[in-house]
Amino acid sequence: MNCGHLPMDTRLLLLLLLFLFLLTFSPAAADLAGDGADLMTFRGAVGRFVLPWNTSVSPCMWPGVTCASNRVVSLRLPGSGLIGQIPEGTIGNLSNLQTLSLRFNALSGPLPSDLARCKELRNLYLQGNRFSGEIPAFLSSLSSLVRLNLAENNFSGVIPLALNNLTRLGTLYLESNHLSGEIPELDLPNLVQFNVSFNRLNGSVPSKLRDKPANSFLGMSLCGGPLGLCPGEISPAAAPTGALPSGSGSKLSGAAIAGIVIGTIAVFLILLVILFLLCRKKGKAGAAKSVEAKPPEVEVALRDVGIVDGFGTNGVAPATKVAASSAPAAALAAKKQLAFFGNGPKVYDLEDLLRASAEVLGKGTFGTTYKAVLETGMMVAVKRLRDANTPEKEFREKIDAIGAMNHPNLVPLQAYYHSKDEKLLVYDYMPMGSLSSLLHGNRGSGRTPLSWEIRTSIAMAAARGIEYIHSTSPTASHGNIKSSNILLTSSSEARVSDHGLAHLVGLSATSNRAAGYRAPEVTDTRRVSQKADVYSFGVLLLELLTGKAPAQALLNEEGVDLPRWVQSVVHEEWTSEVFDMELLRYQSVEEEMAELLQLGVNCTAQYPDQRPTMSMVVAKIEELQRSSVEVSKE
Ligand SMILES: *[C@@H]1O[C@H](CO)[C@@H](O)[C@H](O)[C@H]1NC(C)=O
Ligand SMILES: *[C@@H]1O[C@H](CO)[C@@H](O)[C@H](O)[C@H]1NC(C)=O
Ligand SMILES: *[C@@H]1O[C@H](CO)[C@@H](O)[C@H](O)[C@H]1NC(C)=O
Ligand SMILES: *[C@@H]1O[C@H](CO)[C@@H](O)[C@H](O)[C@H]1NC(C)=O
Ligand SMILES: *[C@@H]1O[C@H](CO)[C@@H](O)[C@H](O)[C@H]1NC(C)=O
Ligand SMILES: *[C@@H]1O[C@H](CO)[C@@H](O)[C@H](O)[C@H]1NC(C)=O
Repeated sequence: MNCGHLPMDTRLLLLLLLFLFLLTFSPAAADLAGDGADLMTFRGAVGRFVLPWNTSVSPCMWPGVTCASNRVVSLRLPGSGLIGQIPEGTIGNLSNLQTLSLRFNALSGPLPSDLARCKELRNLYLQGNRFSGEIPAFLSSLSSLVRLNLAENNFSGVIPLALNNLTRLGTLYLESNHLSGEIPELDLPNLVQFNVSFNRLNGSVPSKLRDKPANSFLGMSLCGGPLGLCPGEISPAAAPTGALPSGSGSKLSGAAIAGIVIGTIAVFLILLVILFLLCRKKGKAGAAKSVEAKPPEVEVALRDVGIVDGFGTNGVAPATKVAASSAPAAALAAKKQLAFFGNGPKVYDLEDLLRASAEVLGKGTFGTTYKAVLETGMMVAVKRLRDANTPEKEFREKIDAIGAMNHPNLVPLQAYYHSKDEKLLVYDYMPMGSLSSLLHGNRGSGRTPLSWEIRTSIAMAAARGIEYIHSTSPTASHGNIKSSNILLTSSSEARVSDHGLAHLVGLSATSNRAAGYRAPEVTDTRRVSQKADVYSFGVLLLELLTGKAPAQALLNEEGVDLPRWVQSVVHEEWTSEVFDMELLRYQSVEEEMAELLQLGVNCTAQYPDQRPTMSMVVAKIEELQRSSVEVSKE
């Protein structure tokens, strides 16, 4: 309908007629029209010049609005320049609203009291505004609330004890307001994320909140739990029941005194042991450093790992090892040449490569990969293909296509070697290893947490690499996307590796390695569609966000794969439990996290035509990256 040339009055009349029509003939649409009118009133009050909502299209198409069953269920307008007070009869009339996100705007005044009518509300993100007044009591009647974020506002008064009514609450963020008084005895069984830092609270931390970390209570002189003993309080180690009310002046029994004495001695002994161990470790480290200059290990050359260099002896390792070091062998090997890609200087030959010291990096789907250090000090990764029975002509054609691929997010193939018995691929060496080892290796202490920024930039880089592969031809695909094929440069930039190998060699039918990543429709691993790549990438995204290896999910959850596990947990509204523990501190971007998770779920749709294309995936991740940068600037 193009009403552009009609006068304003006529357009309004048409709109009114449309609403009347909808009101008369369709009850569901009438509600949607009502929602639309409420939203327009809201826009008029706080976002007249900033919300580009077009009344000639359905409210469900308006930016920030999501519908389900013809009702508005979510309104997300983060950082949109909204300003002023939200009037009654606007948001409060959206009775099916489940998510309201107005974070990082300039909204002020009290919350509209008719928000109490949004009984379906589960997620309420209002952080980073100028809302004032007390935390309204009606919030306690929104019994579906899972997430409540009122941080960085101007709320004052006490924290209402009635919040205990919100039994499903998993997130309660109230930091950086002007709340005063004591923290009430909150007892919320599902509370995972809690923060009341930088208010004007005093007194002691209530018992049920003492398991929260100290940085949930920053910037105030509170006591108890993570903040240390309150005046007159007894150490919980000495009083095993631990439930002594603060400042209780009860007389200590003989048993309690004995407990204190034993406890003190035990703590002292433990400290001694720890000190002793620390000293020993330091001594050892020092000793190790002093001999570091001369590593005692014997170097293994690449040819010593059993590579057949031109003899066709079926790779019987010990025999060739002896033969290879003799002069005629070297002469023969020299005839066989490495084929290089690109125009760079050919700074090594096959003989240099075979002489290089070798160290196993990993045994992958297609064979073993070695880190080879050439005599010049140059490092390369050499992949020795297993079971590559592809005819030579076909092999060379396919490998030439792989070598011709050139993109900053692909691991470059420098050269290859092909003989009847041996196929070697020489790649750039990626010093930081794979995403798989970064995510799942060294989960113990001393691990550097993988930040949200690094995770999104890895997702972005991998998506761009795959998008590039898909752009080379309508049928081109990677065929084996998984976290061990995403490698990292020394500056933690991600690059996709092993591209094209699935088509070159084919995964053996029994190979279980790719199982957790393989799209349900894939039967022939040599013919993997682009949409199957998208599925695998979706699993990779879920892995990046949950920190769970797809194979691990397969084992632990009784045959439930990672996508289905994520969906089941998200369905239960426990989105925060889905995420890797290391991501829980990124509260300001939790919506972006939830959206990236949703993207992963969309990519792993059962039917290929329901999955987005890689270009759509790239665009979405770019948008999320932009929006999380904006949020962190606030
Ligand atoms: C509103 O939507 C109609 C129908 O899609 C379109 O013709 C019109 O140009 C849009 N108006 C604006 C301001 O975008
Ligand atoms: C909101 O709902 C109330 C009562 O149902 C109604 O009187 C009011 O007109 C509605 N507001 C808008 C903007 O539609
Ligand atoms: C607690 O929740 C119930 C519904 O679950 C509601 O009827 C009641 O009014 C709420 N109490 C307070 C103090 O908000
Ligand atoms: C915060 O609220 C108080 C009243 O509760 C008001 O006096 C003050 O101006 C508000 N500050 C801001 C920055 O809105
Ligand atoms: C906390 O501060 C209030 C004043 O804001 C005061 O009345 C109260 O006694 C204080 N409580 C404690 C335990 O210090
Ligand atoms: C609580 O908020 C403060 C201020 O934003 C922050 O420094 C602290 O890390 C947060 N603590 C938790 C547990 O989220």
